[in-house]
Amino acid sequence: MERRKFLRYVAASAAGILGGRYLYRYATHASQNDSVGTASVEAAAARYAPLFIPGNSGPLGVLDMAGALLTLTARSTALPLIQGKQSPFLVYEAQYGGKTYQNPIVRVQRGKQFNARLQNGLDEPTIIHWHGLHLPGVMDGHPRTTISAGKRYDYAFTVTNRSGMYWYHTHALNRTAKQAYSGLAGIFMVEDEDEAALRKTLQLEPGTNELPLLIQDKQFNSSGELTYAGNSMQQRMMGQLGDTIMVNLTAQPQLDIANRLYRFRILNGSNSRIYKLAFMHRGKMLPYSIIGTDGGLLDRPYTAQEVFLAPAERVDILFDASHLRADDEVLLKSLAFDAMEDEMMSGMGGAMGGMSGMGGMGGSSLALGAEFEIMKLAVTRQGAATPASPPPTLSNIARIDTRDAIVRNISLAMQRMRWLINGESFNLDSYPIQSRNNTVELWDIQNAKMSMPHPMHMHGFSFQVVNRRDSPSQVRKLAQDASGRLITDLGWKDTILVWPGETVRIAVDFTNEYEGDQTYLFHCHNLEHEDQGMMVNHRVSAA
Ligand code: C2O
Ligand code: CU
Ligand code: CU
Repeated sequence: MERRKFLRYVAASAAGILGGRYLYRYATHASQNDSVGTASVEAAAARYAPLFIPGNSGPLGVLDMAGALLTLTARSTALPLIQGKQSPFLVYEAQYGGKTYQNPIVRVQRGKQFNARLQNGLDEPTIIHWHGLHLPGVMDGHPRTTISAGKRYDYAFTVTNRSGMYWYHTHALNRTAKQAYSGLAGIFMVEDEDEAALRKTLQLEPGTNELPLLIQDKQFNSSGELTYAGNSMQQRMMGQLGDTIMVNLTAQPQLDIANRLYRFRILNGSNSRIYKLAFMHRGKMLPYSIIGTDGGLLDRPYTAQEVFLAPAERVDILFDASHLRADDEVLLKSLAFDAMEDEMMSGMGGAMGGMSGMGGMGGSSLALGAEFEIMKLAVTRQGAATPASPPPTLSNIARIDTRDAIVRNISLAMQRMRWLINGESFNLDSYPIQSRNNTVELWDIQNAKMSMPHPMHMHGFSFQVVNRRDSPSQVRKLAQDASGRLITDLGWKDTILVWPGETVRIAVDFTNEYEGDQTYLFHCHNLEHEDQGMMVNHRVSAA
């Protein structure tokens, strides 16, 4: 099919199904960036709320695993998310070491045994998946293991991953997107000697100058309650986009800092929004160091000014504020980018009545690729004299030996309004991808030209990026070398963004120490795409 025809087809189908539910709301958040009078600037300034910094209990509290069983009870609660109003929210609640937590930041030492129990206190089925962890298939939280209301599921495995920021979230069959959006997600930190060395050199103190930043876009109604756009055609195809950007569940956050070095460990916990992160100071981008990716530290720090972060990806950043002065302000922003390289979006948008982007229909007014503010950093105090420059080496990244690797082709494309992987939509009982223990594979993940960017995620194994081909210019511009790889491609990954028209080659070693055949998943981490079936079983057989 020709491109133009395809676009008209997509647009016409979406419009037909949407019908009267089409609702266009003008960008409310975007007005911040317009020229406004002093009064409204002050009004906007007053809206900043202090960034929520996780403590040692309560919401996002840091929970150090000390051997005992961790029981996580999934349940519905109410939290004041915006305007101090209570909003329905789903949490994993835990009692541990005499403290109560909601969606705890679980911290585990590498090599330790991890014992947890999911207790389903919801009135619907659910299951927990440990994102990025290497573990037996039966411990992975495959949607097949979804448990009904009132039931429980026990997990026991050894944490063998490198130190890094991993996470856990619902993987309920057909319900992952809405449940994760409604709150069922948390951070899982693994620590080891690389991590300890870095903290020591830079005098990093979690909770003070080392902070997790969980970035999510949400949508609220006028009563301050979290809303999910549901199953509109637009949302099914593009994914849920919210117009309220939250960091650690704080809308429009401000972080008061000293003029010293900070470490931000950032997780994109959004359903479908991709961010292009930059620190802006007086209209200019400030350089920062990228020191880690999904699977932990890079070999060394890399200087950057902007980085793409797709759903489920993590990036570990050192931000040096030591050259800033008191009263200086820096904005962590997501910069504008072309989400579809003007292919699908403009085609669909055009036929939908000249909207720029597709944001308006699902209820959100903030299109994918729009520019917006994420967080304000305000220098309010003098920093202690601490080392500002990162150590020259951080870790060792041994390259996977791909000499005997087979090459597997993975295609991503849309057919009849569905996103497919190698032409397949998810079927619980079929195994379209089969690998073998003790083998290495190269996967060429090829996204169709008329497509969306898809963040593709593999369960059970971290992988390495070998190269990027036919990347759109905004991606190629950030390439580090002739392989087309970005800085974030240089470490261990479990989720990789593949742009329209692009082919990304990854190397994976399927060696595992588990008994028998293991079943995992490979899917798009745009969670609406995932629930729609952009997911396949992946079996790693014993021999
Ligand atoms: Cu974080 Cu199967 O996903
Ligand atoms: Cu995962
Ligand atoms: Cu996708």
